[in-house]
Amino acid sequence: MSAQGYDHGMARADRKRQRYLEFLARCDQAFRPYAPIDLPEFFAGRTEHVRRLEGEIRAPGRQVALYGERGVGKTSLAKLAYFFLRRDEDRTHFVRCERSSTFDTIFRDVLASAGVEVVLNGVESEAERHGALGLSSVASVGIGRSRRVRRSFRRIVGEPQITPRMLLEQFSASEGLIIIDEYDRVRDEECHARMAELLKQFSDADSTTKIMLVDVADTLSQLIGEHKSLTRSLAQVKLDRMSKEELGDIIHKGKEHLGATIKNTVSHRIARLADGFPYFVHLICRHAAYVAADQLGEGAANQVVIAEDEYVQGLAGALSNAEHTLSEQYAQAVITTRKPSEKFMLVLWAMALSEEREVQVKDIAKNMTLFVGEERKPATFSWNLGELSGENRGNVLTKVREGYYKFTNPLMRPYVRSLMELENALYHGQQWEFPFMSGTK
Ligand SMILES: Nc1ncnc2c1ncn2[C@@H]1O[C@H](COP(=O)(O)OP(=O)(O)OP(=O)(O)O)[C@@H](O)[C@H]1O
Ligand SMILES: [Mg+2]
Repeated sequence: MSAQGYDHGMARADRKRQRYLEFLARCDQAFRPYAPIDLPEFFAGRTEHVRRLEGEIRAPGRQVALYGERGVGKTSLAKLAYFFLRRDEDRTHFVRCERSSTFDTIFRDVLASAGVEVVLNGVESEAERHGALGLSSVASVGIGRSRRVRRSFRRIVGEPQITPRMLLEQFSASEGLIIIDEYDRVRDEECHARMAELLKQFSDADSTTKIMLVDVADTLSQLIGEHKSLTRSLAQVKLDRMSKEELGDIIHKGKEHLGATIKNTVSHRIARLADGFPYFVHLICRHAAYVAADQLGEGAANQVVIAEDEYVQGLAGALSNAEHTLSEQYAQAVITTRKPSEKFMLVLWAMALSEEREVQVKDIAKNMTLFVGEERKPATFSWNLGELSGENRGNVLTKVREGYYKFTNPLMRPYVRSLMELENALYHGQQWEFPFMSGTK
């Protein structure tokens, strides 16, 4: 080969590699199972919830508590609330709680995000004074892509702790948003009492900065217990699982960004399999798109296509990369030295086949027909059901009431269904017909 021909070949290989890497970079932006959405263009669905939030935030004296099952998209909605509610991003203060958070640490972060560093007790230590001259006087604020650096000012106050009055002085007259995520993690009892008081005072003062508490399923009754009138001033907004159309919209937005084609049948399968959880859509699509990216290396493919093969391989990738809690819990539930070990698996699969979340034992028995060709008598697996609801098997199931069981972790059902779907594709030529893949519900 001539030197020129060799150079051309190298340049072509470089371009191919470049296109491949760019495709993967777009995939990382569009399909992100491990991080909340923080750009509006990737946020799908939720029109009803946004409308409800708008109404509540606009209502004088109303603060908001947003709650919902794990992984339904609470943080994503909270991170983009400023955008949907048309509030200034600079006046939106987003903080995330930890188990060790207290009222003072939460609001110290909120104030820092507003550029105010509070020094309590009216004194500041030598170190703090020096810190003030150094980097600590610069607070890094902002959310999403646009992190800004803002100069902070220090406010020295006489009180030993952060008070509602201080916060009202700072925020009540501006049209801001204070968003406190993962509030359920807070262990400090005193924090709940002080938070309830603060919510009440923001409402009474008709503050135009609103407080939005996110992830409050467990703490809500405690907060309201502290202040009965919070039932009126604190709107409770439940974020539901996403509909199949909304999940389809995630796939649509992602594929547009990728510049890839996803076969309609594949897109439907993914949206159905995800069982309302955007996490599974992102997880499967990401892995399928990575598999499809290989097409850019093979020949002159201009359009990357995600079809059945990419879907099945993507599904396998998704399952081996799913949350550890799911794979560990599943393994703990089904792996055994006792015989026959597959009975545990069979019970879980028959559970996952049901359209109902709380499954009746007689339906589990019926559902087994699909896998073993005949109905099994409940007496043959009642011991297994009991074990699966116990600590030995990781409490994978919960007995709801006599004769009814459900998956303890709601994400377990789509996980088990994905395993079944993979087995169906790999070993049964898609011959099993799962009602959840074709039903109308
Ligand atoms: N409206 C949406 N459009 C597209 N993807 C979404 C949407 N909402 C959530 N997701 C995706 O779903 C997954 C879970 O979202 P998120 O972290 O916001 O949920 P969460 O309810 O806060 O979860 P957790 O209970 O674990 O805190 C993430 O991968 C996120 O990117
Ligand atoms: Mg969250």
